[in-house]
Amino acid sequence: MFRITVGTVNIGEVTKKRVMAILDSNRLSSGKYVEEFEDKFARYHGTSSAVAVSTGTDACTIALAMLHDITSARDDEVILPALTFVATANAALHAGFRPVFVDVDRDTYNINPEKIEEAIGANTRAIMPVHLFGRPCEMDKIMDIAAVKNLRVIEDASEAHGALYHGKKVGTFGSLAAFSFYVAHIVTTGEGGAIITNDEELAASARSLRAHGRACKCKKCVLNISSSRCPLRFELDENKDRRFFFERIGYSSKMNEVEAAIGLEQIDKLDEIIEKRRKNLDFLNTHLKEFEEYFQLFKDKEGEVISPLAYPVLIRRGSKLQRKDIVDFLEKNGIETRPMFSSIPTQQPAYKYLGLKPGQFPEAEYIGTHGFYIGVHQDIKEEDLYFVVETIKKFIKKKG
Ligand SMILES: Cc1ncc(COP(=O)(O)O)c(C=O)c1O
Repeated sequence: MFRITVGTVNIGEVTKKRVMAILDSNRLSSGKYVEEFEDKFARYHGTSSAVAVSTGTDACTIALAMLHDITSARDDEVILPALTFVATANAALHAGFRPVFVDVDRDTYNINPEKIEEAIGANTRAIMPVHLFGRPCEMDKIMDIAAVKNLRVIEDASEAHGALYHGKKVGTFGSLAAFSFYVAHIVTTGEGGAIITNDEELAASARSLRAHGRACKCKKCVLNISSSRCPLRFELDENKDRRFFFERIGYSSKMNEVEAAIGLEQIDKLDEIIEKRRKNLDFLNTHLKEFEEYFQLFKDKEGEVISPLAYPVLIRRGSKLQRKDIVDFLEKNGIETRPMFSSIPTQQPAYKYLGLKPGQFPEAEYIGTHGFYIGVHQDIKEEDLYFVVETIKKFIKKKG
């Protein structure tokens, strides 16, 4: 069936061979391929470490959890954008934080830095900006606020592999950053995530937390690729086994060998993948320009290079278009769409317990009811994009 999808999975020959070798080896749980994936992902970002985990949600959770002792720090707060995929907020709760939401900027869909300071209180420990749809947040302003207020910055870069802010890759501004390799994302391992950092102590904590809180945090032991002797010479008395000795409450969140092998080839091709996605992004921006009175386009702002997860379309205020009508029309014509997330605190029933009232996050709420996104991935061809533009044109002629 003809369908222009939001995400793509394209497994190359090298990957197929690697996966077969893993299946033949009977070694599925994390091992040498996970180690290689981590090394490559860290090298791509120029960070000293990457720690691979099961999902992007776990990457966010573990990056936050290591900032405090989850058994006692019940009042700690983290600042998040109101508009994001629900996983960012869920991760804050899983890590023992109270989420404090800040509205987004309508033009960028990202956290509005001008509104962060008023949300900071005595219990604030961190700011977690989300680079939504692959557009970098305004990191200069966010880093300045964090420095003045002595807060950690943990980036949720789940949707923004390889995006640049003033020439620097997102994920390398804060103390830690979380990435997702879910199927609809720029790099996919099926399910998967990673944390990157330049701080070896934080990387060690991440390794421990993904493995139930193990006391020995060395790379080889946590990935079970050491021989009988720990390379860090982590010693316990003879009645204790370092594989079963835990110093904190952790999570069970290891990446497996098949997932790592699927990701390896994509990291090698990541710049090429981003280039193709950006070409598709440019195509849509050029051809949808004539409809700018109806929709907000998705363009780089000064100093940023978007690495597009997808193409978000926001119906402008004052336009007569209804999201439901256009989404139905596109879907009927084989163009997959997804809603542009929502205001987590006021539009998601799961967050009703916070008692926040609709109207408190006007930009996130507007985007939550008027935004949707379509695909721009590397396997979408120019003729498909022509079809997308023609379909939108047809819709506007009918309704506009
Ligand atoms: C912004 C953001 N954060 C976190 C996640 C969670 O990633 P995962 O689905 O790999 O758990 C996603 C997933 O789509 C996301 O878009």
